[in-house]
Amino acid sequence: MKAGIIGVGKYVPNQVVTNQDLEQRMDTTDEWIRTRTGIEQRHIATDEENTSHLAFGAAKAAIEDAGISANDIEMILVATVTPDQPFPSVSCMLQEQLGAKNAAAMDISAACSGFIYAMATAKQFIEGGVYKNVLIVGVEKLSKIVDWDDRNTAVLFGDGAGAAVIGPVSEDRGILSFELGSDGSGGKHLYQDQYVQMNGREVFKFAVRQMGDSSVAVLDKAGLTKADVDFLIPHQANIRIMEAARQRLELPEEKMSKTVHKYGNTSAASIPISLVDVLSEGKIKDDDIIVMVGFGGGLTWGAITLKWGK
Ligand code: UT7
Repeated sequence: MKAGIIGVGKYVPNQVVTNQDLEQRMDTTDEWIRTRTGIEQRHIATDEENTSHLAFGAAKAAIEDAGISANDIEMILVATVTPDQPFPSVSCMLQEQLGAKNAAAMDISAACSGFIYAMATAKQFIEGGVYKNVLIVGVEKLSKIVDWDDRNTAVLFGDGAGAAVIGPVSEDRGILSFELGSDGSGGKHLYQDQYVQMNGREVFKFAVRQMGDSSVAVLDKAGLTKADVDFLIPHQANIRIMEAARQRLELPEEKMSKTVHKYGNTSAASIPISLVDVLSEGKIKDDDIIVMVGFGGGLTWGAITLKWGK
């Protein structure tokens, strides 16, 4: 049995905070934020909208899109570093809200690489013949762990959720290969004490190298080359990092998803949110070869190649 994406969904809070809004509350400029990061605005949750709330919106949409019912879900994997509380997990809260009474549930902590980690894990359970449908969600409410007085980090992040149902697809489609990695020695460059702390330059250098290396490695594992890639969906952290990955794969501009200007960096949610947007714009068609690649705190990284379609 081959595992692939059979449904997708996203949910972002209504409240939009623009760069101009941030100019009013800290020593920054729209020009600095746009040229250094590509970000123009981000969606920020209210106090009433917690992580599980965002996750539920995306999960419900993905289940509907897959044309299955909550009872058909046998496992829920939620990738997040901003759960409502340490436990119960967001995935257990989601299990109840969805009424997914046949599902096992656990959260995955791999920061911005979390959605890729979740997809690789789901693939193992499905292709191992254990489960048929696994719901995976990347979700963050980063606004609650950002220091709104720290211009180095506050301008970068946004809140949101993206989800996919991973299920059986035809033999020649689905997830072709994955590549996961970690380097705990770099954990000091990006971590949370009370708030997010980041050595931006170190993370930037790591990200540029790793996004390129992981993309090339995951293609190699699938027996493919750069020339086979139809579309790249990179973690949406910074347009300059994304552009470096695109150039490493020698892809034209229109073959990479770009949503960082609308949502900022939504960590684990950025890849699935981007996927939903490019699908709705008709940029991906059946049998396209897609590379998804991400990096994040840990440090962690991950990449997936898949052939689109059920
Ligand atoms: O999902 C993973 C999460 N993290 C990342 O992806 C972050 C990776 N790193 C980056 O994206 C970039 O390093 C940043 C966007 C964070 C920073 O860009 P940079 O080109 O590396 O800038 P920099 O850190 O070298 O800072 C340049 C200047 C500094 O001023 P001085 O020391 O040169 O006078 C900063 O104080 O920009 C200043 N600065 C700001 N100025 C206006 C930092 N933040 C701001 C700001 N507005 N918001």
